[in-house]
Parts: sequence; C-alpha cells; structure tokens
Amino acid sequence: MEFFDVVKERHSVRVYTGQSLEAGKLQQILEAISQAPSAGNLQAYEVYLVCEAKRKTALAQATHGQEFLAQAAAILVFCAHAARSTGKYGKRGSDLYCLQDATIACTFAMLAATALGLSTVWVGAFDEEKARRAIEAPQAHRPVAMLPVGYPGEAPRGRSRRSLNDLLHVEK
Ligand SMILES: Cc1cc2nc3c(=O)[nH]c(=O)nc-3n(C[C@H](O)[C@H](O)[C@H](O)COP(=O)(O)O)c2cc1C
Repeated sequence: MEFFDVVKERHSVRVYTGQSLEAGKLQQILEAISQAPSAGNLQAYEVYLVCEAKRKTALAQATHGQEFLAQAAAILVFCAHAARSTGKYGKRGSDLYCLQDATIACTFAMLAATALGLSTVWVGAFDEEKARRAIEAPQAHRPVAMLPVGYPGEAPRGRSRRSLNDLLHVEK
C-alpha cells in the first residue's frame, strides 16, 4: 500500500475475527518496529509479543474492561526501558526519551500492520502493574502501550479531526 493510503486507511478496530496472523506478516511488523528512530539510536524500549490465549486474557483484564483485546490474533506490548537511555541522557532519557522511543516503535508497528491489511488499536488505558505481571516483565520494563493486531471484525468509520487551522501554529 502506498504510504499516504496507509495513513488514510488506518482506523482503530475493536472487534477482531480471531484469525491468526501469517508468520511472514508478523515478521514484517517486527522488522518495522526495529527501524523506528530512537534517541541516540539507543532503542530504550522492549517489545513483548503475546499470542497465547490465557496471556491475552490476562492483558485484557488489565485494561479496565476492554475485553476485545483477547480476540486479537496477537498483542504487542511496548515497554519503556529507562535504564537504556539514562546513561547517555540522564533524567531526560528516563522521563521522556524512553517513552518516546517506545511509542514511536508502536506507531511503526501500527502503520506496518495497516500496510499488510491488518488492523490495530492503540490501547493506553491499563493498569501498568497488572500488564507487567501478565507478560512477566521485570520492574525495569514499563508497559506504555498495547497494540492488539489482527483481522478486523468490523468496518471502522473514520473519526473527525481538529482542523489544521486549529492545531497548526505558523510563524507570523
Ligand atoms: C495514547 C493513546 C491511548 C489510547 N488508548 C485507547 C484505549 O485504551 N482504548 C481504545 O479503545 N482506544 C484507545 N486509543 C485509540 C483512540 O481512541 C483513537 O486513536 C482515536 O479515537 C482516533 O480514532 P482512529 O484511531 O480510528 O483514527 C488510544 C490512542 C492513543 C494515541
């Protein structure tokens, strides 16, 4: 898919068919993640891939009732790993860059999935501690975004956006 079609076609999907992902597509998404830029190229994030039903349910239970998560073929959990950034960047690394690194990586996964005909929704509303336990991650890995990936079971409508005039501040 052409890049601007990917941007236009991506919509949040909250119903999944449960059809599993082709290994090749999953691999392409994972490779896109690792191409994401990061502060100092330190890649201060970790990604957990969850396909097992029980673990997907445990993640869904961490999300304050967003049960659809368990229906997705896979869930990618993006964790900020501050220690990878603090050596070079100190507090800015731990307060900001590791979060930005993790969320840019999630964005790359999201767009790659769309380009492959798959659907996603960024999930940010969850109990971090419960999510961390579900993926058995150490304290140093802070879950910041979950990305269910799968085939859509609904046709999402495009949401409206603020006008460019409203959000863009052009120099005078
Ligand atoms: C930081 C962030 C957190 C979000 N958290 C959730 C969430 O917990 N659950 C959910 O269903 N959607 C969540 N979303 C998806 C947004 O609701 C969605 O992107 C927005 O309504 C625009 O719709 P679109 O993605 O279809 O363009 C989140 C998106 C972002 C960027």
